[in-house]
Amino acid sequence: MQGDFNLSLEASGSVMSLTDFDPEVGQTDELCPDSQFEGIVGRSTAMLDIFTRLQRIAPYYRGVLISGETGTGKDLAARALHRLSPASGGRYVVLNCSAVVETLFESELFGHEKGAFTDATRDKAGLFEYADQGTLFLDEIGDMPLASQAKLLRVLQDREVQRVGSLQTRKVDVRVVAATNHDLRDLIAQNRFREDLYYRLSMVEIQMPRLADRVEDLPLLQRYFARRFADVFGKNISGLSRAAHARLSSHSWPGNVRELENVIGHAAMMTRDGLIDVPDLPEYLQNEPEGVRTNTEACETLHDQERMIVIRALAAAGGNQSRAARALQIGRDALRYKVRKYRLRVSRSENAFVVSA
Ligand SMILES: Nc1ncnc2c1ncn2[C@@H]1O[C@H](COP(=O)(O)OP(=O)(O)OP(=O)(O)O)[C@@H](O)[C@H]1O
Ligand SMILES: [Mg+2]
Repeated sequence: MQGDFNLSLEASGSVMSLTDFDPEVGQTDELCPDSQFEGIVGRSTAMLDIFTRLQRIAPYYRGVLISGETGTGKDLAARALHRLSPASGGRYVVLNCSAVVETLFESELFGHEKGAFTDATRDKAGLFEYADQGTLFLDEIGDMPLASQAKLLRVLQDREVQRVGSLQTRKVDVRVVAATNHDLRDLIAQNRFREDLYYRLSMVEIQMPRLADRVEDLPLLQRYFARRFADVFGKNISGLSRAAHARLSSHSWPGNVRELENVIGHAAMMTRDGLIDVPDLPEYLQNEPEGVRTNTEACETLHDQERMIVIRALAAAGGNQSRAARALQIGRDALRYKVRKYRLRVSRSENAFVVSA
C-alpha cells in the first residue's frame, strides 16, 4: 500500500522516471477496507479529514453546505451524511436546483393549495413535507432563484413551511444538505445569492478536494474503478500498464473523480487482454503527458487547442453536454455548435461514454 503512495507522488512530480513504477498497477493490493468510507474511496490526508468531518457532523447537523468542483464526490458525501444521521430511516429527497423552472420553484419546495395558480388543480405537498423526518438534498443551490432563497432561509430558521396560496404553516423536521460547484461568495458579489442564507448554510461547510490535490489517491481509485468495470462488463481486468498509469498520473483531472471513472470505464471496454494500456485510454489522454508538452503546445493552432479543450470538458462531464457547457461557461447551443464544428461524436452507454473525432 505504502509503495503505491510514493509511486503516484513521483508520477505527479516534474521528474518522472518510468523505471520507478511497478510493472502493473492494480494487480497486487487488495483494497484496504478502511480506504472506503460510506462508498467514498480515498486515503489521502485530505480525504481522511473529510471522512472525520462527515462522521462528526452527521449526528447533529440541520443544514450543511458541500462545496467542490464537479466530480469531486459531493453527491456521495451528501448521501453519507444522510445515512449516518439520525434521519437515516427517513426519506432522502433530491432536488437539482438547476433543473427547475423558476416559476415552479416555490411550489416544488413548499407545495401549493388548489387554485393557488392556473395549473394548481389540487392540493400538493412540497418536497419539504415529503422529506419530513428525512433529508432534503438541494443540488446546485447556486441556481436557486433569490425569492426562493429567502423562503428557504425562513424554513431553516423556523422549521415550518407554508404552501403557496395557504396561510397555514406546517411543522417540518428536515435536514438540508446543499451542494454547489460555484464559489457562493462570487454569486453574493453578483447579487445572485443571499448572504444571510450563505452564512446559515456555511456554518457547517465541507469542501471536497480536487483530485489533482490528492494524487496519492489515484492508484487506489484506478484499482477501484478497474474492479468495478470488470464486474460490470464481466471482463477479467488485471490492472493498468505502467505507461497508462504514468499517463494518468500526469493529467490534471479537471473533471475529478467522475472523469477518472469515465476514463477507466472507457479503457475497460477497449482493452483486449485485460491489461489497460495507453491505446485503450480516450484519445485526449493518449498524447504526451501534459507536463512535457509545453514546447510543442506553442505550435498548436487555436483550432487544435479549442478542439482539445472541448474534448476534455466533455470527458470531464462524462459526455453530459449541459454539464460540459457549464464548465466551459458557454451556452448549450454554443457547445453543440463546437461539437459539430470539430466533428466530435459523443455517445453514452450505460456505464461509460465515448467521445471521438
Ligand atoms: N471518492 C470517491 N470514491 C468513489 N467514487 C467517487 C468518489 N468521488 C466521486 N466518485 C464517483 O464519481 C462520480 C461523480 O461523483 P459525484 O456525483 O458525487 O460528484 P459531484 O461533486 O456531485 O459532481 P457535480 O458537481 O458534477 O454534481 C460518481 O459516479 C461517484 O460515484
Ligand atoms: Mg453532484
